[in-house]
Amino acid sequence: MSLSIGIDAIALGVPRGYVQLTDLAEARGVPPEKYRDGLGVEQMAVAAADEDAVALAANAARRALSVSRTKPADIGLCIVGTETAVDHSKPVAAFLHGLAGLPPSCRVFETKHACFGGTAGLLNAIDWIASGSARGRAAMVICTDIARYQLRSAAEPTQGAGAVAMIVRESPRLLAFDVGRNGSYSRDVHDFWRPLHAKEGIVDGHFSVDCYLAALEGAYREWLSLQTAKDEAPVRACYHVPYGKMSRKAHRHRKQIDGLTKEQADASFESEVGSSLILPNKIGNAYTASLYLSLASLLHHEATDIERKRITLFSYGSGCVAEFFSGRVVEGAAAWARELRIDEPLNDRTRLTVEQYERVRGLDTQADPRFPDGQPKPVLNGGRVKFLGVDSGE
Ligand code: HMG
Repeated sequence: MSLSIGIDAIALGVPRGYVQLTDLAEARGVPPEKYRDGLGVEQMAVAAADEDAVALAANAARRALSVSRTKPADIGLCIVGTETAVDHSKPVAAFLHGLAGLPPSCRVFETKHACFGGTAGLLNAIDWIASGSARGRAAMVICTDIARYQLRSAAEPTQGAGAVAMIVRESPRLLAFDVGRNGSYSRDVHDFWRPLHAKEGIVDGHFSVDCYLAALEGAYREWLSLQTAKDEAPVRACYHVPYGKMSRKAHRHRKQIDGLTKEQADASFESEVGSSLILPNKIGNAYTASLYLSLASLLHHEATDIERKRITLFSYGSGCVAEFFSGRVVEGAAAWARELRIDEPLNDRTRLTVEQYERVRGLDTQADPRFPDGQPKPVLNGGRVKFLGVDSGE
């Protein structure tokens, strides 16, 4: 495969509010070390009622186009991966078609498989380019989600919200994938689900950790079987990050498959994974966006050291499906990543008290009521897209 296909630009869309998890620990009567060291979490983003999955995705998409100076007319495919859909039929991607000003010739749709939905979209975009269907155009893949669990549940500190938009094209300026050399794994398990009537996820927490690790092992072993003696060893690893400690467990598990002891595996964690957790630690689990936040974090903080080097990515979606894949950071990626100002949307956030966060969650139950002939109303408001409710159609 001589074509170089990958991620040309990446941009975030994040809620305005976040909770410092030491505040949540205090309110819940939990020792703060349990969240900090036991789960490896620091902050979780909290989406307000006007920050639904469409608004977060639109803000990320519009930013990706503007910071990379990509013309909407150059986008021939727009896929949104989400498990926080706003409609059973109309995809988030259709709203984005309008909000991002995409051309009528652009194909738009939504992909779902828990946290894997964005990866499903990305793999589709890569194949679209590799097959020749793109005819020189670029794809935009957006991952957008709001992770909600029951208040006061064990999963509560592992919530979060956010969107990541990626421009995918030939001769990318950030990361070129090793196309056609992915390891995949699927199994029918009941570890996490979001019933149609509920806004919150239901999870068999400890079982979900076992499922994640089994899927990692299956996908990693297949990826390993596709490596040749000529392939350089990867220098960094990005994992799906439901909470920081899960990445540590994943890295340890993978390195033990390579024959390292637990101590040797842990010793490589900070240098191989640490910088990919800086942004996820400020946002929490953003489901489909989580792996790509981890990639954005790595490129933002460390691209200078890893230009021309290989990195790996691991995507997990409950239910379950997983993919282990790899790519090479492109020469010049560090300077380009600086121009993209990847972490800028995080500069403008407000720390919420636990009472404020609980009030926002209380509004969730009333948000987005469905009218038989209503139309959801995402609007542009001062350069930022907001969800303003549902029109009764009268
Ligand atoms: P829990 O009840 O808090 O678990 O639930 P725990 O009591 O076992 O404690 C967690 C860790 O804290 C343990 O360490 C304790 O030892 C430690 P570990 O054994 O894991 O190394 N601990 C302490 N450490 C320091 N000081 C202390 C202290 N006390 C305890 N005082 C759980 C944790 C993750 C299960 C829960 O938060 C949960 O259910 N979260 C949601 C599910 C989840 O994130 N699963 C991850 C894999 S599945 C996935 O990634 C898919 C997903 O993103 C959805 C999708 O695909 O759409 C979720």
